[in-house]
Amino acid sequence: MAAKPSKLYICQNCGASYAKWTGRCSACGEWNTLSQESTSLSGVGAGPKAHASKGNVIVLEGLAGEDEQAPRVSTGMAELDRVTGGGLVPGSAILVGGDPGIGKSTLLLQVAAKLAAQKKHAVYFSGEEATAQIRLRAQRLNVQEASVQLAAETNLANIIATLEDHTPPDLIIIDSIQTLWSDILDAAPGTVSQVRTCAQALIRVAKKTNTALVIVGHVTKDGQIAGPKVVEHMVDTVLYFEGDKGHQFRILRAVKNRFGPTDEIGVFEMRNEGLREVENPSQLFLSEREEKAPGSAVFAGIEGTRPVLVEIQALVAPTSFAAPRRAVVGWDPGRLAMLLAVLEARCGLQFGKHDVYLNVAGGLKINEPAADLAVAAALVSSLANSPLSATSVYFGEVSLSGAIRSVGQMQVRLKEAQKLGFDSATLPPTRKIDKKSTQMTVQTVDHLCDLTAKIAQSHHH
Ligand code: TYD
Ligand code: MG
Repeated sequence: MAAKPSKLYICQNCGASYAKWTGRCSACGEWNTLSQESTSLSGVGAGPKAHASKGNVIVLEGLAGEDEQAPRVSTGMAELDRVTGGGLVPGSAILVGGDPGIGKSTLLLQVAAKLAAQKKHAVYFSGEEATAQIRLRAQRLNVQEASVQLAAETNLANIIATLEDHTPPDLIIIDSIQTLWSDILDAAPGTVSQVRTCAQALIRVAKKTNTALVIVGHVTKDGQIAGPKVVEHMVDTVLYFEGDKGHQFRILRAVKNRFGPTDEIGVFEMRNEGLREVENPSQLFLSEREEKAPGSAVFAGIEGTRPVLVEIQALVAPTSFAAPRRAVVGWDPGRLAMLLAVLEARCGLQFGKHDVYLNVAGGLKINEPAADLAVAAALVSSLANSPLSATSVYFGEVSLSGAIRSVGQMQVRLKEAQKLGFDSATLPPTRKIDKKSTQMTVQTVDHLCDLTAKIAQSHHH
């Protein structure tokens, strides 16, 4: 067998490796992402051995074994527990990704303090900030008395030696993976091989000591954890901390979870004194609403197990461009294109000479097809310059024919809307809702044209 080259070219975007330099990574298609790194792919730390060891015989087991549910460590933060599926799992690794400045360090320092309040033990390694800076943050969060152990360290070997020297904590926090480096590699911190090696070694320690590990990772411009997509594959859970820096809302979302659901979100509000959990996100997302503006519709959505009402804002305005603009924040642009096409082809509305801007208020990202009807209502309301009732909610999926399709959990959506003071709902034809069981006025629409006709009609009255 040919010897492995000691220097490889590694794509900093996807981690693919090449023996020779090329301009474009053929694995992910990115340009100029290859950089030379010396690697030892055989698992650093375990050490590439000169002789392969003779394996030990392991015990094979049947499928019907006695396994307990993974035990959980509640973080004392209900929103984080919800997103992780019930708390931290000892021995598991969580990657927390997000833009710089979004609040990752704040969140994790608060979690460490919450654990300390339950007499649990968290160790916080910061490679980004000096301990003095973290203490300052702790004062701001009013948790300076919490018994959290801190170290400003970037050397992997020192971190591992420290962990091995102490009784295992309940939680290890690494802030951030991009700042760590191992001196067995001569690559710079933040490169794929450094990030991979450091993550691997830390995950090994977490497994061995049955400790929960949280790794912070920064996100690059195009929305991926910088360089190492690789880390996402190595950890059990990937959480993204998102939000618009102009707003105080922050959303924690699971995108991968070996131990729980991936559709739950946790909602926080960034205050001067740190992150506050938001138990009723609907109230928050609707708080800045201009009630009588054309182009505003309230969508009664479901995020995971929780109903969330959110305002959809549309602006449809005559264009001055040859090709009209379509810009979307918080929703799928492809879905918007489909909806516009259906409105044109089936309901005869014309958007071809209009720019269309669509925004989901509060920085929430909606994935549910059930939002179609609310988006359509907002679009038509803006085009007709006719405000919708401020106390109405909308939900329903729109098919290519323009028919309105039923969606899940309609009762839950109605209940949330009623709780927040809404008095009517526009929704798909259904026999699932007993109109007498709700105090809401329920309007069913079979076809998108029914909705557009109703909005146009209300304009003339
Ligand atoms: P930080 O947790 O440092 O973000 P990250 O670790 O993701 O880079 O948060 C930085 C921002 O949060 C910073 O702009 C200040 C703001 N902030 C508050 O508004 N209130 C607070 O109590 C704290 C600690 C930070
Ligand atoms: Mg930080």
